[in-house]
Amino acid sequence: MPVQTPWIAPSILSANFARLGDDVDAVLAAGADIVHFDVMDNHYVPNLTIGPLVCEALRKHGVKAPIDVHLMVKPVDRIIPDFAQAGASIISFHPEASEHVDRTIALIREHGCRPGLVFNPATPLSHLDYTLGQIDLVLLMSVNPGFGGQKFIPGTLDKLREVRRRIDASGRAVRLEVDGGVKVDNIGAIAAAGADTFVAGSAIFSEKDYGAVISAMRQNISEAQLLRA
Ligand code: DX5
Ligand code: ZN
Repeated sequence: MPVQTPWIAPSILSANFARLGDDVDAVLAAGADIVHFDVMDNHYVPNLTIGPLVCEALRKHGVKAPIDVHLMVKPVDRIIPDFAQAGASIISFHPEASEHVDRTIALIREHGCRPGLVFNPATPLSHLDYTLGQIDLVLLMSVNPGFGGQKFIPGTLDKLREVRRRIDASGRAVRLEVDGGVKVDNIGAIAAAGADTFVAGSAIFSEKDYGAVISAMRQNISEAQLLRA
């Protein structure tokens, strides 16, 4: 299975919420591929963020790029149709947050979105055993979910290599996304370990020149992918 085109996915958790539409336009104009949309419920994770209304507002504002909804909520199923209706493209959830993982995956697909499964740092990959054939994305958390600006957990690199092996063995075009503490200086190692989709919040939004960060990231990804090929 050839390596997929890398996607940079800015996490709008670190964007300016007082002018969110303009900030999302700016990061897409600066070269981002998709919009990473972190949904937290102050129950599954100890923080509270944004819901379907904000997703819909971004679509109405004119955002055309795929919106990558990362659900950190429990329960999961009730909110899926609302996000589909609000214009989500990908919807990922944590298996610990769903009573019936296969049913939740099917629900996302039935509503016309692409399903993804998210793994916390301590979540075992055995959750892929009966799901990899049904999902379009595996999202590995490289921090514990709940907050932006945390430090990348190095053990994620081994986990990425193992997921890469499983995806390649499946023969399916499943994206491998990493989320948490991704920066210009570690993105090469993350790409070399097999990720093709890179969430970055604080690394991008804390800088004035989004384009400069994104192109430095792309440069380091392509050098790492050349070494893998
Ligand atoms: C954490 C979120 C991440 C987070 C990443 O729960 O899922 O998307 O915003 O932020 P950085 O890139 O700042 O670690
Ligand atoms: Zn996220």
